[in-house]
Amino acid sequence: MEPDKRDSLIPQESKNYLHTSMVHPLLREWNSVDMFKKSDLIWPIFIHADDENRKQEITLLPENYRIHYDDIVDVLKPLYEKGLRSVMLFAYIPETEKDERGSKALEGPVNKACINIKKELPDLLINCDLCLCPYTSHGHCGVFLENGELDNDETLKILGDIALNLIRDGADIIAPSDCMDCRIGYLKNLFRANKLKTPVMSYGSKFSSGMYGPFRHACGSAPSFGDRKKYQLPLGSKDLALRALERDVEEGADIIMVKPGIFYIDIINEASHRDFKRPICAYQTSGEYAMLYYSAEKGVFDLDAILIENLTAYRRAGCDIILSYFTPRLLDLID
Ligand code: PBG
Ligand code: ZN
Repeated sequence: MEPDKRDSLIPQESKNYLHTSMVHPLLREWNSVDMFKKSDLIWPIFIHADDENRKQEITLLPENYRIHYDDIVDVLKPLYEKGLRSVMLFAYIPETEKDERGSKALEGPVNKACINIKKELPDLLINCDLCLCPYTSHGHCGVFLENGELDNDETLKILGDIALNLIRDGADIIAPSDCMDCRIGYLKNLFRANKLKTPVMSYGSKFSSGMYGPFRHACGSAPSFGDRKKYQLPLGSKDLALRALERDVEEGADIIMVKPGIFYIDIINEASHRDFKRPICAYQTSGEYAMLYYSAEKGVFDLDAILIENLTAYRRAGCDIILSYFTPRLLDLID
């Protein structure tokens, strides 16, 4: 074709030119979703009670530590001043204190941390993870029947007792992460019967992902046998994820979560289209943290830039709040 004839192939209508919408930084901003605010972040923290070794490094979760319940306020105060408004507390206890029923969960390090935080930082919103795996000798998230199957109903009753103690000590939101059936409905009824207005965050859409390795090390909660495939969602199941969210919404969940975030962003998006009419939370899991942290360390990308890009993706997908181990860093990054 003659060079001058090629001109006729170029669409001439000015509406086809998008660069006009990108010529100024503010225009680019106007064409984008809003970034998360600092108050949209929840910082997950691991609490322990070992007086001998108070600041404990966590393998594969660099720059995160297990924190002693009596040090937690000192750690949180400067972050609160920077805009931190919410935390999620997890427990770490030594093997010697674990049993088949996770009894230590009734009065553990998280209870003491709640009391300390409420005293000094009363406005900080405390989410408490509710699960047996950090406390059970077998590392599973529930108690077992004689036949080796998980006893869903018995587990629920134990979780309810733990939740009431956490609320007594200052927990503002209870977040059952075990993926037992019908926990939202049970907890909502239990709280109401006890005249409590405590909200419940559903970990409804939680996949049996390979992303939880560093977390299990941090909590000492890896299962000692088998896996969690009978209670966490099959990796390919959009249907079960949506059914879990629908059920938890129906049972009155105040917040719903998708976990992990990065490989399940389609579920976040789908949930936002379903219009469940409550905040959607993404859990940027420990594996995601390690993936981003170590890749940046190797020079694959700039960590701050990739974090902003990742958060933008969560926002674009329709996510309202985010649980991230990067929260202390993000408080410097977001303004
Ligand atoms: C289990 C629980 C898990 C996480 C939080 N609570 C997963 C699991 O051990 O199966 C994972 C969080 C993370 O990886 O950051 N109760
Ligand atoms: Zn668990």
